[in-house]
Amino acid sequence: ETDAAPAAEPVQLPIDRSAGCPFDPPGELARLREQDPLRPMRYPDGHIGWLATGHSAVRALAADSRFSSRYELLHYPFPGAGVSELPPAPVGDLTGIDPPEHTRYRRLLAGRFTVRRMRELTARVEEITTDHLDAMERHGGPVDLVQSYAHPVPALMICELLGVPDADRAAFQTLAAAVSGLEVTEEEQFAACTALQDTMRELVAAKRARPTDDLLSDLTNSDLSDAELAGIGGFLLAAGLDTTANMIGLGAFALLSHPAQADALRTDPALAETAVEELLRYLSIAHTGVRAALEDVELEGRLIKAGDSVTVSVQAANRDPAKFADPDTLDLRRKATGHLAFGHGIHQCLGQQLARVELRVALPALFTRFPALRLAVPPQDVPLRTGMNIHGVHRLPVAWDGQ
Ligand code: HEM
Repeated sequence: ETDAAPAAEPVQLPIDRSAGCPFDPPGELARLREQDPLRPMRYPDGHIGWLATGHSAVRALAADSRFSSRYELLHYPFPGAGVSELPPAPVGDLTGIDPPEHTRYRRLLAGRFTVRRMRELTARVEEITTDHLDAMERHGGPVDLVQSYAHPVPALMICELLGVPDADRAAFQTLAAAVSGLEVTEEEQFAACTALQDTMRELVAAKRARPTDDLLSDLTNSDLSDAELAGIGGFLLAAGLDTTANMIGLGAFALLSHPAQADALRTDPALAETAVEELLRYLSIAHTGVRAALEDVELEGRLIKAGDSVTVSVQAANRDPAKFADPDTLDLRRKATGHLAFGHGIHQCLGQQLARVELRVALPALFTRFPALRLAVPPQDVPLRTGMNIHGVHRLPVAWDGQ
């Protein structure tokens, strides 16, 4: 017996954002959040679970150890792959495991991702962004900002972090682009994933033989096996590349669509910190997560049964008017503290300080170098990553000055 209110009719997860603005979540999500911030949802495989759209519900779920992240327990919220068709989590993947396995990896990695360490990488981010902006200038517009800037900058920062030797970086970057599916077929992308695993194993062997000053070398002093180290290397690339690249690409698109905001960022460098938090909130590129209840849980007046999957809509939570005033407005001066764009709880993004450093440098530098930056195609022709796990743009054709 419980006092929990009777549950509403299950809905399907709204995924269609085609109707409106490229930066807004599907409009239906806002209606569902207003009606009921935690409500039953019908999953594509027929499972009846839950959908959390309110900021407080999403936050509470992510912080609650009675919910699991183990892939094998989750029902997948998107049409397409059912959970049984998902590949088993490779070793070193932190997002699909629970304590105590998760705690062991997380402890080993956390000390290597401190704010101080990541700030030390700022000088390298500055050099890498400058190099790429120089190359864009030499080339002349129009260029695809994704291929010229948004993707290579974070790819090279991952090289820096992992300690990929200079001589191997060009090859690594090509591989990383193929793994991300940039201008390659699905077969090429699949082949690149396999090649990446080989590259990571070779890199780990090289670091064991001759350690240098980087994360992988550092981790060879722990009790992690070679397979775990290679797995972690591959996972860091997967977790840190598409995310940051799409924040730069979609972030640039959002600023180009809000010229007064772009001007503010250009003329006031002190704005970079709040601007990046606001862009993270407003864009919520890692838009959706999922958890499974390990036991019966009463939350926000609802009874979630053991085994139920709960889809957490980060994008709906980050636009919740109960948390953020005027949530659908991009306002770079807003204090967006408390946004959930990096998740929350034990799985909260390990690389968030690195991502912040990259975004705080890369976005202002782009708009300062090219004050007349503009889209080289009509905004409706920018191909969006609709339906993908990480929202963003496939390409962003831009030009500047008389081109
Ligand atoms: C986890 C977003 C950049 C490494 C996460 C999660 C989110 C997220 C939402 C939580 C997933 C969950 O709860 O299941 C982002 C965004 C980024 C970004 C929006 C860029 C703007 C990075 C970078 C790295 C990184 C640069 C590292 C190089 C990780 C790792 C995890 C993670 C290792 C797993 C943590 C765990 O499960 O304990 N990220 N991320 N991320 N992220 Fe990021």
